[in-house]
Amino acid sequence: MATTTGNGKPIKPINIGMVGIGVGGAEMLPILENMPEFDLMAGADFNPRVREAFAARYEAKVFPTVEAMCADPDVEAVWVSTPNRFHAEHAIIAANHGKHVVVEKPMALSMAQASDIIEAAHKNGVKLLAGHTRSFTPAVRAMRKLVKDGKMGQLRAINVFAYTDWMLRPRTADELDPNQGGGIPYRQGPHQIDSIRVIGGGMLRSVRAMTGDWFKARSIAGYYAAFMEFEDGTPATAVHNGYGYFMGGELVPWGHANQRYTPEERVVIRKGLRDGTWDDEKEKDKIRIGGENEYSVFSRDEDREKWVPEDLGVVLVSCDSGDIRHSAYGLYIYDDDGQRELELTPPGLLGPGERRGELVELYEAVRDGAPIYHTGEWGMATLEVCLAIMESAKQRKEIMLQHQVPVHPNYDQAKILAKEFA
Ligand SMILES: NC(=O)c1ccc[n+]([C@@H]2O[C@H](COP(=O)([O-])OP(=O)(O)OC[C@H]3O[C@@H](n4cnc5c(N)ncnc54)[C@H](O)[C@@H]3O)[C@@H](O)[C@H]2O)c1
Repeated sequence: MATTTGNGKPIKPINIGMVGIGVGGAEMLPILENMPEFDLMAGADFNPRVREAFAARYEAKVFPTVEAMCADPDVEAVWVSTPNRFHAEHAIIAANHGKHVVVEKPMALSMAQASDIIEAAHKNGVKLLAGHTRSFTPAVRAMRKLVKDGKMGQLRAINVFAYTDWMLRPRTADELDPNQGGGIPYRQGPHQIDSIRVIGGGMLRSVRAMTGDWFKARSIAGYYAAFMEFEDGTPATAVHNGYGYFMGGELVPWGHANQRYTPEERVVIRKGLRDGTWDDEKEKDKIRIGGENEYSVFSRDEDREKWVPEDLGVVLVSCDSGDIRHSAYGLYIYDDDGQRELELTPPGLLGPGERRGELVELYEAVRDGAPIYHTGEWGMATLEVCLAIMESAKQRKEIMLQHQVPVHPNYDQAKILAKEFA
């Protein structure tokens, strides 16, 4: 394992603790355990089974609460992946204990909460990173770089659409309550919105959207369609249908109709949800760390996986003289010379490895004083758009945005990008 960073400096691992070792957390554990830049030395969760599995796997200290974990002076940074309703509370507790913070998407439930997190980080002089959206992936960063290079002329439009089985995945009670951050605009909006903002420069002007709540067994929005305009008039659209009938993965020749579930499993789950025989709590616990189905989330497989349009969906970026979209291992570029493929990452970096981006960003900020790009203000601006999607649907009118921030001026010089998109 590497003992120096890309710039040749010896690695001094950051002692990190995770609060909320659930499904979202489990996606990050294989990455964290594999990066010499981090020592995954603590975990906090109020589920004793999860604590036990985590302690056994990582020989880590475990705690029932975030407060107890943060009282440990050895913990330097906290990854907050508790349910949405706790993001603000837990991020603020961590910051007030002097810990650097990565907060899962959505950053918070409201703009006021997001602002409180930013203030707490600022007051305590800790780094705050609004994390874990698909905007960190090399493909999205490379799309932005191609647009910014300007060789294809001006950016003209960004269209993103996802068809997933998100609504059929097991849900805890709070995930089925829109007031506690339930529903697809809160939960999936950040992947698409963050990516659109990264590619287009960050400064959205307005949103007009509708949401859809079509499945009686799950009374949360499982659909949205949003039309956004950047400050300069560039349009962007985002659609997410999480009902799990048609799957976006079917749209690419190397794709398939499986996402979290196969088509046959989706039929059984939908029926079980309708007749009340599907036990959400039990099924969710099965996929958390140590559960019998944890393999469906927790994957140590570093093999290069072919990209398929999963939760982010199909992304189409149009410029004056060309279009850009994902390929299996990078991007397809269509321009006046025809179509070509840009391979982005060597084997080993796609698949789960592509989630390293935010951890590299945190490490370099904490140890080398590099900027945080996905700052609290950035996460708050993305949250503003997610909230505007819901508000626009309610009022049936365009919502003007007031808290947008641009992409950091040095974003494209970030070492993570230089490494993966030379
Ligand atoms: N970025 C992604 O791709 C992604 C994927 C999945 C989930 N997530 C995010 O992760 C978060 C959690 O969702 P999930 O699906 O993992 O849910 P989950 O229920 O599986 O995980 C939450 C965990 O937090 C624990 N917990 C709840 N309240 C707690 C508290 N007050 N103190 C300590 N522990 C507590 C629970 O026991 C559980 O283990 C959400 O914010 C979600 O948006 C992100």
